[in-house]
Amino acid sequence: MKLDHAVNIEDLHRMAKRKLPKIIFDFIEGGLEDEHGLERNRAAFAKHQLLPRYLVDVSVRDQSASLFGRTYASPFGISPTGGAGLYRRDGDLMLAEAAAEANIPFIMSGGSNASMEEAMRIAPNNTWFQLYAAKEPELTDALIGRARDSGVGALVLTVDVPVSSKRERNWRNGFATVRNGTIKEALKLKPSILLEAMTHPAWVIDYVRRGGAPGLGNWAPHVGNGNGATVSESIRLGRSQTPAAAQTWRDLERYRRLFPRPLVIKGILHPADASRAAEIGVDGIIVSNHGARQLDQAPASLDALPAIKAAVGDKLTVMLDSGVRRGADILIASCLGAQFVFFGRPTLYGAVVGGLAGVKKAIDIFRTEIDLVMGQIGCPSLSELGPDFLWREDWTQNR
Ligand SMILES: Cc1cc2nc3c(=O)[nH]c(=O)nc-3n(C[C@H](O)[C@H](O)[C@H](O)COP(=O)(O)O)c2cc1C
Repeated sequence: MKLDHAVNIEDLHRMAKRKLPKIIFDFIEGGLEDEHGLERNRAAFAKHQLLPRYLVDVSVRDQSASLFGRTYASPFGISPTGGAGLYRRDGDLMLAEAAAEANIPFIMSGGSNASMEEAMRIAPNNTWFQLYAAKEPELTDALIGRARDSGVGALVLTVDVPVSSKRERNWRNGFATVRNGTIKEALKLKPSILLEAMTHPAWVIDYVRRGGAPGLGNWAPHVGNGNGATVSESIRLGRSQTPAAAQTWRDLERYRRLFPRPLVIKGILHPADASRAAEIGVDGIIVSNHGARQLDQAPASLDALPAIKAAVGDKLTVMLDSGVRRGADILIASCLGAQFVFFGRPTLYGAVVGGLAGVKKAIDIFRTEIDLVMGQIGCPSLSELGPDFLWREDWTQNR
């Protein structure tokens, strides 16, 4: 199947699965433990139905959305996904470029292979930086300083990785294991990996031709004197400094003082944490369960959203990710109070399948679906979305 033939995100997903060795695909795809969270994320959206209104003029439909004083062309952006260059060489920069072209935000992962400065050169108006705090506070502050000086639009602190999680697919197939909350082994060679390599020659040839595993671009400048860190040195530094299990709200107060532009917390699920973030002066939160990769018993972020919205109202900007696969999912989240929505895996599938063109394709799929569903439900502008567009079981009794 060619990229042109993909009509939805599930098509890109299937194509990406065929293209990648299992060990790599499993890292993108996997949840943790029994992977109930993955199902829960999808089921949360499937529970909702949109209730259309007709005889409304929908000849012009506007899906632009404002966020932190900027207007984006669509109400969605790209969540941070570490290691994109491993799945598709230069994948991080393809995500940045496609986001700039589509005028949507791109959150560059702290664990990405390119650096935030490189992303800023390609997408100066669309790049945000996601921070994984380092165990050494000075190093965290240095990363924040680079984010501030490079001009990224927002700093996104991910808080839902206090320890590494038990991703059993990765343990089984040799990608990585975890000991004492930290990743201990990576890419252990096993016969199954060699077999996968033989059956996916295109990926392997590119991997070898480009010198093996890519380094960690955001950590590399902090190795030694910052000049010429090797790939393995940058990986070793990133892995030894994260996760920062001792990080607390006190640290967040410091980050707030250090970063003058919008500060966003990603990974909030509890209303009290959302309120506390607002008190500290955080500008926004991304309600997220990390794509069901951290706590298999966590609620779906869509299910957590209404209570969080009720707790913080408009005190900060409430956004959401985890499980979004359709344009309609984005509209449903908007009806429940999300002011912006992100997704992680869909654009990675696009990058794996078709590089830059594949990322653009994934964005275009979401955009087209949003446009058609807005027309279908009688909603010419996103500002009109709210709970009245959602079907409720008690509908007939209460209206
Ligand atoms: C391969 C992969 C790598 C990820 N890396 C990061 C990361 O470096 N930082 C982070 O905050 N979240 C990371 N995430 C989580 C995403 O930012 C996002 O929360 C998640 O993908 C949303 O779920 P979805 O994939 O169902 O859209 C990663 C997710 C995936 C699938």
